[in-house]
Amino acid sequence: MCGIVGYIGHREATPIILAGLKRLEYRGYDSAGIALIERHHTNGNHVPSTNSATLSIRKCKGKVNQLEDLIRNMPKTSMLGIGHTRWATHGAPSDINSHPHTDQTGRIAIIHNGIIENYSAIKETLVERGHHFESETDTEVLAHLIGEFYGDGRNLTEAVRLALNEVIGAYGVAVVSKDSPDEIVCARKGSPIVIGVGDNENFIASDAAAIVSYTRNVIYLSDNEIATITRDSVKTRTIGDVEVTKDVEAITIKLEEIEKGGYEHFMLKEIHEQPSTVRDAMRGRVIEEEGSIVLGGLRNHLPRLRNAKRILITACGTSYHAALIGKYMLEQLAQIPVDVEYASEFRYRNPVVTEGDVMFVISQSGETADTLAAMREAKRKGALALGIVNVVGSTIARESDGGVYIHAGPEIGVASTKAFTSQVTVFALLSIMLGRMKSLSVVDGKELIRALLALPGQINQILESSEPVIQEIVKEFKDADHFLYLGRGYNYPVALEGALKLKEISYIHAEGYPAAEMKHGPIALIDNDMPVVVIAPHDDVYEKVLSNIQEVRARGGRLIIIASDSDKRIEKLAEKVIRIPETISMLLPILSVIPLQLLSYYMARERGANVDQPRNLAKSVTVE
Ligand code: M6R
Repeated sequence: MCGIVGYIGHREATPIILAGLKRLEYRGYDSAGIALIERHHTNGNHVPSTNSATLSIRKCKGKVNQLEDLIRNMPKTSMLGIGHTRWATHGAPSDINSHPHTDQTGRIAIIHNGIIENYSAIKETLVERGHHFESETDTEVLAHLIGEFYGDGRNLTEAVRLALNEVIGAYGVAVVSKDSPDEIVCARKGSPIVIGVGDNENFIASDAAAIVSYTRNVIYLSDNEIATITRDSVKTRTIGDVEVTKDVEAITIKLEEIEKGGYEHFMLKEIHEQPSTVRDAMRGRVIEEEGSIVLGGLRNHLPRLRNAKRILITACGTSYHAALIGKYMLEQLAQIPVDVEYASEFRYRNPVVTEGDVMFVISQSGETADTLAAMREAKRKGALALGIVNVVGSTIARESDGGVYIHAGPEIGVASTKAFTSQVTVFALLSIMLGRMKSLSVVDGKELIRALLALPGQINQILESSEPVIQEIVKEFKDADHFLYLGRGYNYPVALEGALKLKEISYIHAEGYPAAEMKHGPIALIDNDMPVVVIAPHDDVYEKVLSNIQEVRARGGRLIIIASDSDKRIEKLAEKVIRIPETISMLLPILSVIPLQLLSYYMARERGANVDQPRNLAKSVTVE
């Protein structure tokens, strides 16, 4: 998704903005741009002579490196600027549609994340008043609208505020003007803005990763808030014009967490981090000797959770697959009926939600627009909303009634890996906790916890042992056009996840299916060329999955099987076998998904795909 970076202070703005934009590249984008305000000086020592300044804008379709080339020869004396990476919504990726956009007079520049839904109506009115538009974007319309309000005694903040009162939609915006050369105005509704507070300098960003190397002190804007930022002050009000006092909070992410640390790609680094991220998801939450779990963020909601007639879980993408596993766990251990739904479907179908319902909202980023909207809808209808979120301080984390952080650390690769295993780990903790509040015995609780605590070592073992066979599979199947992934029970959502991983980064068409459903249709796809990945470890449905494997074999499908270390029967059924250690059924997804992540990673790499920034995709989808 789009990224925003801004700087005002005593240093050159350009390198800070470019470095920030590079930090945001992982979010996915198709063009980049920068706007710089430069004061006019008379004596060469940077003492402003008048209030006059120039506004320079450079922008292009393509990557930040291309923007860097474009601005190479510009004087780098500006100490105020804003930069943007755009992920196209209104208007194709092009130089013209890239941000920043200017108002009618060319004195204001704006960068914008989100979508202005009523932009056509506003545009029509402005065109009638003689405005001329260059791009196809909703953002340019907002720039012109701000321009309409600017002047006649109204300062930049007031102009932005009044314009935002007219728009319907979502925005994170940053606005500068050559007529107000000592300030940046930013605002948010539905799209994050974080303000970095420095020493005689301030920063803005849509993601703290962009500014963490400069300051660790930040202010998170809430929806409907606007901030006026100078080099030594930050003033915040609501869009309705009420002054608000914001707390300065400390960023928790570490710099090394957002660097590759010797790995070729973030995705590979994040796959290899899983022994420690799964451990971190459990840290301080497990009481081994009592066979029980403590989740501090749910402490105030335990009576409601215990008495819930139904649990709803909503999420998108990989988080949705983790939610499906969560359903199986919660129903097995806590015996509470669970419904899982794509957030994008939930919000638009007038779902039945009653006051006794509890909704778990699963999101790595905590910013996914559909998931956020589903949560708001459920809250509006009286449900208790609890987040299972990675990014600390994200919108879902802040707007939910409580929840559990997964503590996976920043996930930069667009393909979600470590967040998935941490989400599933948290679901296991939650299920044990609720189970123990109901009928799960201490003995069973202890056994589950023992198995949980063994997972980090077992993931390590898979990482160390599976790469050679995965490399062989990649060589053999790199030209395949299709893959089928099959699993049953707890491993059915893993089949979905394996297929999603392969599609999104290697662009090979893949489908995940419940193994037994194959005979109701997809079996027609199987021929001598079709690679079929079956997740078949020793679990409650192992024998059933063996029958499904036989069905594939009988039709000539090329079997790649994820099997338990001790399985002696599987070798003669499969073309390739990837081994994983034994654990209880419920926890198998945390192990069985690891080889599938590696398979998609090495397949994408072999095919020359951009692993960390796959085409058309964004890390966090902050538009509907
Ligand atoms: O940040 P979220 O967990 O809410 O994101 C949900 C999906 O957009 C995300 O999982 C997406 O499907 C990933 N690209 C999957 O690898």
